[in-house]
Amino acid sequence: MNLHIVILGAGKGSRMKSSLPKVLHRLANKPLVQHVIDSASSLHPEQTHVVIGHGADIVRKVISGEHLSFALQTEQLGTGHAVAQAMPDVPDDATVLILYGDVPLTRTESMQRLLNEVSATSMALMTITLDDPMGYGRIVRDDAGRVQSIVEQKDASKDQLLIKEVNTGIMAVRASHLNAWLPRLQSDNAQQEYYLTDIIAMAINDGVDVSVVQPDQIWEVEGVNTLVQLEALERCHQRNQAEKLMLQGVRIIDAARFDLRGSLDAGLGCEIDVNCVFEGDVSMGDNVYIGPNCVIKDSTIASGTRIEANSILDNVQVGEKVTIGPFARLRPGTVLSNNAKIGNFVETKKTTIGEGSKINHLSYVGDATLGAGVNVGAGTITCNYDGVNKFQTVLEDGVFVGSNSSLVAPVKAAKGATIGAGSVITKDIEENQLAVARGKQRNIDGWDKPKKQS
Ligand code: UD1
Ligand code: CA
Repeated sequence: MNLHIVILGAGKGSRMKSSLPKVLHRLANKPLVQHVIDSASSLHPEQTHVVIGHGADIVRKVISGEHLSFALQTEQLGTGHAVAQAMPDVPDDATVLILYGDVPLTRTESMQRLLNEVSATSMALMTITLDDPMGYGRIVRDDAGRVQSIVEQKDASKDQLLIKEVNTGIMAVRASHLNAWLPRLQSDNAQQEYYLTDIIAMAINDGVDVSVVQPDQIWEVEGVNTLVQLEALERCHQRNQAEKLMLQGVRIIDAARFDLRGSLDAGLGCEIDVNCVFEGDVSMGDNVYIGPNCVIKDSTIASGTRIEANSILDNVQVGEKVTIGPFARLRPGTVLSNNAKIGNFVETKKTTIGEGSKINHLSYVGDATLGAGVNVGAGTITCNYDGVNKFQTVLEDGVFVGSNSSLVAPVKAAKGATIGAGSVITKDIEENQLAVARGKQRNIDGWDKPKKQS
């Protein structure tokens, strides 16, 4: 099938009360229209045409996809007029699937079911039956139950307003049919717009069948007009993602307090406590535990690792059976080998930490390479920056760093070296040496203690 997708997204979205074009508002940190593009891309269309108008320049910049092009609708004269703007770039033998840039959660399967109904003698329309059909176009059927036309809310008669089956706006139709019908649309209606919905009556008139498909779920056809609706769809989407993960064996303590803004790949036996946010691409092995209030972005976490409460990981690679946090901040370029341990109030950046090494408390370790079995005491700081350039710190296997030490980079402690607590290390240390760099202690006899002044 020569499939062309047309996504309508020229509208301003005044009710969003925002300067951002509506279709660029984000759901799960991805623009609404990008959700539509991504879901439709699984259908492998020849071309996807996004009709843009309000904020066209920034929409063009922000969204992306394969075989993606834009059609500019300078004036928003209606949905029929919007589709017409894309048609010069759609070949006459194509099948056109019309989607909406502000309806982000339509499933690919539902789009496919619609496409299955399209032929040279039929088109397909997605409808839904609602308890409260207010605002939507109503599906008018004849006595035999065959679809006759769509009447917009503002043009409907009293009787028609009682109809509960409504137009979702999503439809699939041959380009040749659109090319015959769109030029004949009139704007002599309540809104003085060229309604796409008027092509239904034209189809019937031309002997083209209108097949109706209904989505499995209401959220598939729900649009975003206000930030309230955006929040509701966001929670719905998060719930769906959480359910999918739970059915794959991930224990999520509370799906209402779970946010995935990207992809999460998890093995068996993983547990995610409340208020965690996952961004970008995160993957976890088996039996990984994520404590409450963690933010994890673009990271890989191997099996058996525990990330305790309030930890933040960004572009981190974590080995097996590692313990992190509570209150750890692991910044980009942190690599932790198996059995490593990062404790509370520890910040790392561009640092590789060898097997079983520990930084248990209150430290900053940046631009560093730690071998295996290294122990970094509380309050250790790598002084990696001279205000202009960054320098490396190397701690080889088995190095022990006493508490409250400053390691002034570039500096290296060779295998088995020990650094005395409170040292400021400025020179390399050789294997198994003890380095102490601090003021010597003096004990003074007969010290006269200060007395309280009256
Ligand atoms: C439309 C349908 C209505 C349906 C409803 C479902 C028509 C005439 N009516 O009504 O039957 O029940 O959707 O939500 O089609 N757009 C453009 N250019 C335009 C006009 C609209 O790109 O000139 C885009 C908007 O950005 C929006 C979408 O088309 O994404 C729908 O437009 P909107 O004005 O919201 O249509 P409704 O009045 O809701
Ligand atoms: Ca709408």
